[in-house]
Amino acid sequence: MHKHSSHFTEPRPLSGCDALSMADIHGLCFPDAWTEELFFDCFTKPEWDGVFGFGIEQSPELIKPPHPVSTQSTSSLLAGFILGRTTYETNDILTFAVNPAYQGIGIGRTLLTTYLSAVSCACLLEVATSNTAAIHLYNTFGFEIIASRRDYYDSPDPAMRDAYVMGRRGMLSKS
Ligand SMILES: CC(C)(COP(=O)(O)OP(=O)(O)OC[C@H]1O[C@@H](n2cnc3c(N)ncnc32)[C@H](O)[C@@H]1OP(=O)(O)O)[C@@H](O)C(=O)NCCC(=O)NCCS
Repeated sequence: MHKHSSHFTEPRPLSGCDALSMADIHGLCFPDAWTEELFFDCFTKPEWDGVFGFGIEQSPELIKPPHPVSTQSTSSLLAGFILGRTTYETNDILTFAVNPAYQGIGIGRTLLTTYLSAVSCACLLEVATSNTAAIHLYNTFGFEIIASRRDYYDSPDPAMRDAYVMGRRGMLSKS
């Protein structure tokens, strides 16, 4: 049982209908946030083949205005989501964010558990070297730092520019 279980839905697959909600959360979490259009493209354009992800929503009976997310969208009201892509038998976590109003109550851990249960190949991601919360979370799922990328992020905060590349072995190569 998760800390948040009674207030939030179980993870469900994402679709283009979630694009606005994803962009809203991204805008609350990152200075260089993805747009709604970019998230929509991920589910609709052939060049994004292999993209999939999972989202968690606030339980419908508990949603009362004003919602902490600014959107007026009626499409979906996500609390958090994880988006990735499998190409050439390697998976990349593209982005992962939980609305700051709901961080620290287990939503990220639940999303990552669901996501990784759908990934049998090796998995890679980039994370800011200063993002100790995320690095801790990834470590607990078996991710290790395998490389660094200087000035990877276009952030106004110099402490948020460098990234680690973290990797997790695929199930087939574990034995
Ligand atoms: C990283 C993120 C997705 C984690 O989601 P979350 O719902 O807050 O995470 P959880 O509540 O499931 O907690 C997961 C772990 O992170 C740690 N953690 C979460 N928030 C933390 C914080 N503010 N400070 C320190 N550790 C924190 C918790 O200790 C927890 O570990 P534990 O289960 O061993 O106690 C979320 O914090 C977030 O959206 N951050 C901003 C965007 C971001 O950094 N995305 C990842 C980019 S690679």
